[in-house]
Amino acid sequence: MSVKEKLQELISEAKEKISLVQSVHELNDVKAKYLGKKGSFQEIMKLMKDLPNEERPMFGKLTNEAKQVITNYLIDQKQLIEDAKVNEQLRSETIDVTLPGRSFEVGKKHLLTQIKEELEDLFIGMGYSVMEGPEIEIDEYNFEKLNLPKNHPARDMQDTFYITEETLLRTHTSPVQVRTMLDNKEKGPIKIVCPGKVFRRDDDDATHSHQFMQFEGLVVDETTSMADLKGTLLVAARKLFGDKREIRLRPSYFPFTEPSVEVDVSCHNCNGKGCNICKGTGWIEVLGAGVVNNNVLEASGYDSTKYQAFAFGMGVERIAMLKYGINDIRSFYTNDIRFNKQFK
Ligand code: PHE
Repeated sequence: MSVKEKLQELISEAKEKISLVQSVHELNDVKAKYLGKKGSFQEIMKLMKDLPNEERPMFGKLTNEAKQVITNYLIDQKQLIEDAKVNEQLRSETIDVTLPGRSFEVGKKHLLTQIKEELEDLFIGMGYSVMEGPEIEIDEYNFEKLNLPKNHPARDMQDTFYITEETLLRTHTSPVQVRTMLDNKEKGPIKIVCPGKVFRRDDDDATHSHQFMQFEGLVVDETTSMADLKGTLLVAARKLFGDKREIRLRPSYFPFTEPSVEVDVSCHNCNGKGCNICKGTGWIEVLGAGVVNNNVLEASGYDSTKYQAFAFGMGVERIAMLKYGINDIRSFYTNDIRFNKQFK
């Protein structure tokens, strides 16, 4: 058999073999078999040494051509294998664009967070800063520096979870105001709101919770007055309950303020005519406030002959309940998604 015939035979054998290969891995084996170091061509090359010189170039040319042909078969087959793979993948991963889409739930902020943030925005707009403090407090900041010495009868107004004799779960966010006054090195003006969780020993029912959220405010300056307090609270009341609201102040008592007031807002439900929400009075009590007691200013190092302050505090749950007609405070904490979802 001539070299040419040998090569012809090799080519057709390779063609046949290569066409049967189904995987790239297998294809590499076949490639090695023909073109590799111990492959068929290596065998053929050995024949060269027996050839007369003049025939060698022709021999070289023919073998190279044959190698190229086989290499092309390999390339083509590889392409076929890869195309088949892609086609198979396309077939098996077809997306039926006519199927209805999966709806996915977008979370919402908890109603209390929404109201808290709404109030924060309002007060930031009026130049206040938002201050936070620890939920575990010391007696001194929660009570003593707020004009509530040990055994003061008004401590009963805020039944307390004590951790030790001197530490407790804060019963209001007023200790944040104490901390801010103490921290103010220059003893200069202060304008802050203090939102946060507070705790009181209460038996939970529809209107009581041992944990709730407060939103308090404090303004310390040389000229603050009851009129500033009233104006500020009117803005807040209208923001929360609508532009038509009026407020009225009734005398009250808090140890940390003097005078102290209870603040009512005209009923948003009946516009003050009287309904079941305002119990027929046309007014709803929403917060406590007052002019900060001189003892409180002095206890945190402020000169009460120079500075005056006003403060206010409200329960965020109560605001939410009034605004949305929620009749059980426990709904805020049980995290029933159907409840939470209603408030956008
Ligand atoms: N700290 C008071 C409370 O929790 C609320 C309040 C704040 C009242 C400021 C008057 C002035 O009951």
